[in-house]
Amino acid sequence: MLDIKAISVVYGKNPLPAVRDFSLQMKPGEIVSIVGESGSGKTTLIRAVLGSLPGSGYISRGDILFEGRSLPGLGAEEWRDLRGTGISMIFQDSGAMLNPVRRIGSQYVEYIRTHQKMTKKEAWARGVEMLERMRLPEGDHIMRSYPFQLSGGMRQRVGIAMAMTFQPKLLLADEPTSALDVTTQAQIVRQMLELRDSCNTGIIVVTHNIGVAAYMADRIVVMKEGNIVDAGTREQILRSPSGTYTRSLLDSVPSMGGERFV
Ligand SMILES: Nc1ncnc2c1ncn2[C@@H]1O[C@H](COP(=O)(O)OP(=O)(O)OP(=O)(O)O)[C@@H](O)[C@H]1O
Ligand SMILES: [Mg+2]
Repeated sequence: MLDIKAISVVYGKNPLPAVRDFSLQMKPGEIVSIVGESGSGKTTLIRAVLGSLPGSGYISRGDILFEGRSLPGLGAEEWRDLRGTGISMIFQDSGAMLNPVRRIGSQYVEYIRTHQKMTKKEAWARGVEMLERMRLPEGDHIMRSYPFQLSGGMRQRVGIAMAMTFQPKLLLADEPTSALDVTTQAQIVRQMLELRDSCNTGIIVVTHNIGVAAYMADRIVVMKEGNIVDAGTREQILRSPSGTYTRSLLDSVPSMGGERFV
């Protein structure tokens, strides 16, 4: 499904790549977690996959194939078709993507209708259903709210609901739960697992919480300073981390929902 072939990503004239020689192959329905300290290149990597590198970032080497198509070569039109339905993304602060002066419902309905032929009423009902799946009860009420009337965690769940609406084949999630309380965190993690189980969605989840990685991921990739320093199945990484760096991450495992997953 996804084949990242030795990509390097560079920002502007900085001679040091933010991501260097990164390769990863994923099958449908697989969950890969990328962990690593701040600045190690995790966001850069998944933004490169989504074709939305910030600022002066560009892929200087390598290629990314999604279902056989080279992503860096796609035009704006092709990306519009692919984003949201084929590949979608949950940001660290998805709530910030919402337009502050429009109600959630009107934004959500518009989003749905750009991708699928539906009446406004049908799109509204679909939105409500997705919100309720994200543990936002009274979806109707949420739809009628402005973003500022919701808490940060609620806005994040709206963003996550939107990203999951079309059951994408690949979901890219950048610290999707770090702004949430542990109970909600666990719920969102379960929703992502359910999406994988019911729709065979492949997921790349970036997190500095190796507990989340241990709970969700089939495979774990550890990054440091733009390089892969450790990679393997969850069991391999957790039982016998190959580097001292991975070991130090494991030693700092926070707990999730009162349970430790490592
Ligand atoms: N817009 C940008 N312009 C220039 N350099 C950038 C930009 N975004 C990131 N970088 C650089 O790329 C490197 C990797 O940053 P990145 O945001 O990918 O790290 P990260 O692993 O996601 O960190 P965090 O855990 O803090 O989110 C850093 O050295 C950073 O300074
Ligand atoms: Mg980041």
